[in-house]
Amino acid sequence: MAAPVFQPTSSRVINLRHDPDLSSDQLGGLLDLAQQVKQSRQRYAAALKGRYIALLFEKPSLRTRMTFELAIKQLGGDCVIQTGPIAEREPLKDVARNLARWTDAIVARTFTQETIDELARWSGLPVVNALSDLYHPCQALADVLTLKEHFGKLRGLKLAYVGDGNNVAHSLLLNCSRLGVNCTVATPSGYEPKAVIAAQATQFARMSGAQIEITHDAIGAVTGAHAVYTDVWASMGQESEAEQRRKTFAPYQVNEALLRHAHKDAVFMHCLPAKRGLEVTDDVMESRRCLAFDQAENRLHVQKALLLTMLQ
Ligand code: CP
Ligand code: NVA
Repeated sequence: MAAPVFQPTSSRVINLRHDPDLSSDQLGGLLDLAQQVKQSRQRYAAALKGRYIALLFEKPSLRTRMTFELAIKQLGGDCVIQTGPIAEREPLKDVARNLARWTDAIVARTFTQETIDELARWSGLPVVNALSDLYHPCQALADVLTLKEHFGKLRGLKLAYVGDGNNVAHSLLLNCSRLGVNCTVATPSGYEPKAVIAAQATQFARMSGAQIEITHDAIGAVTGAHAVYTDVWASMGQESEAEQRRKTFAPYQVNEALLRHAHKDAVFMHCLPAKRGLEVTDDVMESRRCLAFDQAENRLHVQKALLLTMLQ
């Protein structure tokens, strides 16, 4: 049998298949660049002129799709979009090699992480994970930028994530741990972050001096936290588990009573979409503590910085 023909991937290709694809130095530089891009939009208005990016969405999206489309267009580039299954009519490796002939990068939201990894392997293009079952790295980049802007620093802050140990929790762990942000994740038993990802974050934290903790104690996690973060209890693809999860996760709702244990100036964070009355109450969402819309705005700016880092 003939050997498979991968597209040759240059060692200079920068991917964001998952968070650690960016080195800690690249991560710090990207946050600085995002702040510059946010301040001087016009300066970058032609930076991606003549560059074309494929956006592939197997799952619904408001923020990720809109902010990638806007980011690309505001940088002077353009994009082509496909929604629905990526590899229904032909093998994924063929889709990837077609895209490699037409476009300069791929941004993909997929059911499985394997799809992201295979797109990168077979296309040889820079590939961005726009959310998979395991990671949501673009979200975490926007989140740490939002924290940095709000508090004027990252090192030494404490972020408490309360809820499901899911893709969003994984990416927060992998970024906070590298930036010196202490991160405690509180979940019901059986819904902890994957052990291998928690271990990776703990290793990063040793280098940055951050503390990483995984617990089942929501009040303990939130105590003294500068930021309290939550996400939906049933992620896209887990709809059939939603009813069961409502019962299991009820003690993990972020409400005013829980937030009373946090630092007095604590902020509330959510990647959105939020299910009011489940993982968060309406009054917390509508309170002055809530940074969810700043996070959503910052998706645009960090993704511009990411595209500039990958394609310039
Ligand atoms: N937070 C986020 O990724 O939102 P969308 O699912 O709307 O893209
Ligand atoms: N954990 C959620 C995040 C949505 C932005 C999901 O995967 O559906």
